[in-house]
Amino acid sequence: MEKSLIILKPDAVQRGLIGPILTRLEARGLKFIGIKLSQVSSELAHKHYGVHEGKPFFAGLVSYITSGPVLVVAVEGKDVIEIVRSTVGATNPVKAAPGTIRGDFGVNIGRNLIHASDSPENGEHEVALFFSSEELIRSERSVDQWITE
Ligand code: GTP
Ligand code: MG
Repeated sequence: MEKSLIILKPDAVQRGLIGPILTRLEARGLKFIGIKLSQVSSELAHKHYGVHEGKPFFAGLVSYITSGPVLVVAVEGKDVIEIVRSTVGATNPVKAAPGTIRGDFGVNIGRNLIHASDSPENGEHEVALFFSSEELIRSERSVDQWITE
């Protein structure tokens, strides 16, 4: 089953937006299989954002993601990559549509509140990078029949 790693970045935690952001993800019908507060190490930040190494914003990105506690969330389900990315909105909050998390809560690309995996392969890889298998909990929800046919 498809997985996505979501990170509520340090600005979201500091601004008291954990509740409002999780509310949106939960209300959409997403199934959480892991949630924890975490302090991202420089080593983990380099692994997670390794694809951006060498870009002009890389040092700032590592400093941003390691600057304070984050809330790490794993979700699982059909099409979750696309569903989460569309709920999150465009990378640059200036361009993000109203109604998306970045479009409603952000104004700056360097403080865009939330990360979401961008492919099923990266979702699988990133969830494994941030969670041990014991930390992932799968259970049936009786409401699932009212969320997907
Ligand atoms: P993530 O979900 O965080 O991976 O964002 P994304 O997939 O929408 O964008 P991308 O992977 O291309 O970039 C990763 C992160 O780097 C972004 O979320 C931003 O925080 C940051 N970033 C990307 N481009 C820029 C930029 O031009 N300037 C700055 N300051 N930060 C950038
Ligand atoms: Mg990305």
